[in-house]
Amino acid sequence: MLHPYRITDLGGEKNPLYKDPKAPIEERVNDLVARMTLEEKVLQLNQYTLGRNNNVNNMGEEVKKLPAEIGSVIYFDTDAELRNGLQRKAMEESRLGIPVLFGYDVIHGFRTVYPISLGQACSWNPGLVEQACAVAAQEARMSGVDWTFSPMIDVAHDGRWGRVAEGYGEDPYTNGVFCVASVKGYQGDTLADERRVAACLKHYVGYGASEAGRDYVYTEISKQTLWDTYMLPYEMGVKAGAVTLMSAFNDISGVPASANRYTMTEILKDRWKHDGFVVSDWGAVEQLVNQGVASSKKEASLKAFQAGMEMDMMSHGYDKYLADLLKEGKIPEERLNDAVRRVLRVKFRLGLFDNPYTKKSTEEERFLLPSSLEIAGKLAEESVVLLKNEDNVLPLSASAKIAVIGPIGKNKWNLLGSWSGHGRDGDVVSVYEGLEAEFKDKSRLLYAKGCDFEGEDESGFAEAVAVAKQSDVILLCLGEKKTWSGENASRSTLALPQIQEKLAMELQKTGKPIILLLSNGRPLELNRLEPVSKAIVEIWQPGVAGGKPIAGILSGRINPSGKLAITFPYSTGQIPIYYNQRKSGRSHQGFYQDITSKPLYPFGHGLSYTEFEYGAITPSATVVKRGEKLTVEVPVTNVGERDGAETVLWFISDPYSSITRPVKELKFFDKQLIKAGDTKVFRFDVDLERDFGFVDENGKRFLEAGEYYIMVKDRKVKIELVD
Ligand code: BGC
Repeated sequence: MLHPYRITDLGGEKNPLYKDPKAPIEERVNDLVARMTLEEKVLQLNQYTLGRNNNVNNMGEEVKKLPAEIGSVIYFDTDAELRNGLQRKAMEESRLGIPVLFGYDVIHGFRTVYPISLGQACSWNPGLVEQACAVAAQEARMSGVDWTFSPMIDVAHDGRWGRVAEGYGEDPYTNGVFCVASVKGYQGDTLADERRVAACLKHYVGYGASEAGRDYVYTEISKQTLWDTYMLPYEMGVKAGAVTLMSAFNDISGVPASANRYTMTEILKDRWKHDGFVVSDWGAVEQLVNQGVASSKKEASLKAFQAGMEMDMMSHGYDKYLADLLKEGKIPEERLNDAVRRVLRVKFRLGLFDNPYTKKSTEEERFLLPSSLEIAGKLAEESVVLLKNEDNVLPLSASAKIAVIGPIGKNKWNLLGSWSGHGRDGDVVSVYEGLEAEFKDKSRLLYAKGCDFEGEDESGFAEAVAVAKQSDVILLCLGEKKTWSGENASRSTLALPQIQEKLAMELQKTGKPIILLLSNGRPLELNRLEPVSKAIVEIWQPGVAGGKPIAGILSGRINPSGKLAITFPYSTGQIPIYYNQRKSGRSHQGFYQDITSKPLYPFGHGLSYTEFEYGAITPSATVVKRGEKLTVEVPVTNVGERDGAETVLWFISDPYSSITRPVKELKFFDKQLIKAGDTKVFRFDVDLERDFGFVDENGKRFLEAGEYYIMVKDRKVKIELVD
């Protein structure tokens, strides 16, 4: 470890250029870099933890003595006092007074926790997600956090992987759109705004392909798949201005993401011209030794740094070895300077040199503001997906007596979901409380827990059955604990533990209709629960709004509008199953012998209390040339009796091309409220290159002449592209 330096003056210079708030950022960066010693530069490229670390998966030792020159710290506090203390040390006790950058995992809210990202995606409402991220940014920045390790935009096809909860589902474009929304929400128009934070796109790249859904493992990704499945959201996020990225833990077909020059330098820096920096995931530098591409931490540091990773999160590789590697001539000075410039650039953009300290504020001024809670509530509402509603059993009749049963019914903690920042269970409205507030007549509600999330204890079944018998309808609240998804939280099956399924079977015997409410962090295997349920409502892990939306959905106050952003397989054995699979050579054969080959609920599935009828798609032309404009429109009529919001998902399919392409690909979506009886016209401005074209295995875009289909729901239109 390097030793803190003694303070020396700047050669009598009172106002060096880099301290001049009016000077252009690039000039300030260059001026500062020119003044820095090798040791000072190296320290800028390290991230330590400040105080405790609340990620149980990361066992790195707490760094007791933080050098005043440290580049960044992970800061797990809610109050800026600790931050300001360290910042003061950096500003006043280090030779150059370079501010520290404070990072934290603000994943789906800081204190006002909103739904997990997988749920957010099911809202198809990026505008709302942008607002939620802006709330998270405000709470975080006012608490002393400058930088969030979010959004996670890892496309994932395997629900066993716990981190599927943290991303926006199985589709690259959907991940891209929500990525852009969150980057805008976090970063706003200017990072110097005291209510915004720097975003970090993670985990770059391909982490979602984790083999068999196990975390931290190998990922088998061909170059073609890397491009058409995993890169798009990152490209969109970089274009939207995300100032940092985090390199992933996975080994991409032989070259770990954290030592991957192709992705971190050739693509990110050379092709996409990203001028911010890449931070490693926690310990990812030293893990290169475990992965087998480096025989020592020193070699790992060299490989990671040369590949294009600028900041080492808690491996203590860069702080120990970069200076030696430079002196040994293994690292060119220009690469070191470039890395430092990238880190400093972000600090200047955040305004940290000019406003290094966080202003004092009370928790009331920062957290759970009425407007923040409203956004979290609205997002939770729109994330709910009505999967089944046989005989329109929902909404419930005004007098129905409801038996609330199951481990989710009165639980609050688990509704927060993984990575719940500083969320507290006391902030959450339980499902039962939500119902109490919705249905003023309390005599309509009965409760029995029935069983726990797991285990074999059936002693609560009898009470649950008794309560069910006294009711008109059973609201069976099943699901997952928050610790069952997120990092290092894979499951071997998507089925709920047997005890929960058994409870459902017992309750079914009462003959009372079962409304199955699910709260979970991944798609579930529901083939045994589906037949015994009249209705199924997926609420994901909704955050502080908890049971409020479901109560409104049961009463009919809210008309559900969510649609799945990830496929619910019929059974776990179907994995990987996702809507945009490539075509089969025999689509009429190749099915499973024992079960259906179809998913239980496909991507895009979600019911409403009203019905929408789609008219024919009208294209502005059926024959187009390269470079021409094409617009398609479809009228959608609300033919039911309630107002409702509909999301139109626009897919394209390219039947024949020089490489095989998926059966269909989502290219655009749009959500609009349609009043009962009204018609709205949805419009998609097609960009031929972007939407009809495809990328090859090096990300090069091609557009071939031929026929294409544009599709929405059960409608399609053929377009011919001629040369
Ligand atoms: C996770 C990252 C997270 C980091 C810092 C890692 O273990 O993979 O997603 O941002 O820890 O907490």
